Amino acid sequence: MVDYQMLKESLEMFQLDGDSWKAVADEFKREIDLAEAGGSSSLKILPAFLSPPSGNEKGNYTAIDFGGSNLRVMQVQLLGLGLYRIAKQISRPLQDPQGRYDFTGPHISGSEIFGWIADMVGEVLMGSSTDGLGFTFSFPMQQLSIDSARLLSWTKELKPSGTVGQDPSLMLGDALKSKGIKLKPSAIINDTVAVFLTGSYCDASVCAGSICGTGFNTCILEYKQWEHPMIVNTEAGNYSRLPLNIYDKVLDAESENPGQQIMEKMVSGKYLGELLRIALKDLGERGAWGDYDSSLPIWNQPFALKTEVMDWLQKNDPQAGLLTAGWMAEMGIPVRGENQQLFSILGKAIVQRAIMLISASYCSVLQRTPLRYGPRQLIAVDGALFKHWPGFLSEIEKILKRELPDRSVSLRYTQDGSSVGAAIAAALAG
Ligand code: BGC
Repeated sequence: MVDYQMLKESLEMFQLDGDSWKAVADEFKREIDLAEAGGSSSLKILPAFLSPPSGNEKGNYTAIDFGGSNLRVMQVQLLGLGLYRIAKQISRPLQDPQGRYDFTGPHISGSEIFGWIADMVGEVLMGSSTDGLGFTFSFPMQQLSIDSARLLSWTKELKPSGTVGQDPSLMLGDALKSKGIKLKPSAIINDTVAVFLTGSYCDASVCAGSICGTGFNTCILEYKQWEHPMIVNTEAGNYSRLPLNIYDKVLDAESENPGQQIMEKMVSGKYLGELLRIALKDLGERGAWGDYDSSLPIWNQPFALKTEVMDWLQKNDPQAGLLTAGWMAEMGIPVRGENQQLFSILGKAIVQRAIMLISASYCSVLQRTPLRYGPRQLIAVDGALFKHWPGFLSEIEKILKRELPDRSVSLRYTQDGSSVGAAIAAALAG
C-alpha cells in the first residue's frame, strides 16, 4: 500500500549530511558577524538593553508572556540566590478550543489583543500588590530602551491590524489605563531574552537563550559594541541561507510571510506538522500511498495536522497510540499500522532535520562566545519541542558535545523561562 522507494526519496529530501551541516553552521556565523557589522543579513542584532542578572534580584513582580499560542500572566516572587517562586498564574490559548474567541484570526485588531492582555493582568492582580510589570513579547521588535520598542513584523502566522511600527509596551500601557489598572510595563523583552535571564539568574555560565516552540529564535551575549555585556536578540528564525526542498517551498508560499522566517519554518512547532501534511499529500497525490483520499478535509486545509500529533506518533506508549488512532479516525484516515508507520517515519525525518539545523546554529553561537568562566557554556532553552519531543534536547546536546570537544557545553531546559524572565527584567529595570 506504500511505495517504499518513493517514500525513501521523500525522506532523503529531509537529510542533511555532514558537509551541509557544516555549511549551515559557517554561514550562520557569517550572517551574525554581518549583522553585527551593520551589513545586510537575514539575522539581526537587536539589543535588549539588559545585561545578565546577578541572581540576587528580589521582589514580587507581575509577568506577562505573550507568545504565538498562549498568553500567560503570573505573579513571580524573586527570592535571590537564584531562587524564585510562581505565586499565581493564569494561562489561556489565543484560540479557544471551544470556539468562544480567537485572537489568531485575520480580522483581529491590536487593541482587541492588548485589551485581552490587560483584562488578564487585572484578573491576576486582583487582591495582590506588585513591585512592577514585565512584558515578554515574542515577536521581532527593535528596542529603543528597556521599556519601549518598535514592532517590526508579526510571525507565527499572526497578523493583528494597526500594530506594525507601533510600541507594544505603549499599546499595553494604554489598554491597562483604559481598564483603570494603574500599571505600565517597566520592561519589554523577547522570549529568548526572558529564557536567558531566567537561566542566568540561576547559573552565570549561560551564554545564550533559545526557544523552540511555536516559533524559533536565539539570543546571545555581545561584548563588542557596548560598555557592559549586552543580551541581543538575533531573530534566528529568519535565518535564510538554507537548502529548501520542494515541501519547504510549498509551505513558504502558502504562509502569511513568504520568503521570511525560513529557519523557523523548518524547525518550529507551528510548521513541522504542516511540513508532514504537505509531504504526505504529495506522496498520496503521486500514488505512493494507497490509503490516500484527496477529498478528506485534512489534505485541503493548511495547518490541519498539528505538530503534537507527530509527538504522539513518536512515543511508544499505549496512551500515545490511542491518541494517534483516535486522531486518525477523526480525520477519516484508515487506522492501520502501515499508515501510522508512514506518518511516524516521515515525521521523524522532519524533526531530525530540525535537530541538525538547530545544532548547527547553536554551534556557531557557542564558537563566537568567549569562554569567560572556564570551559562551561550553557544555553538556556524553553518551548514545547524541548519539553515534549523525546530526545530533542539531548540529541542537539550530543551533536554540540561532539563538535566542540574543547568545552563543556550543555542545554539547560528552563521551565517557565519565558514568563519568569519578564519578572527578572522588571526587577533589573528598577
Ligand atoms: C519570533 C521571535 C520569537 C520566536 C520564539 C519567532 O517567530 O520572531 O521573536 O523569539 O518566534 O517565540
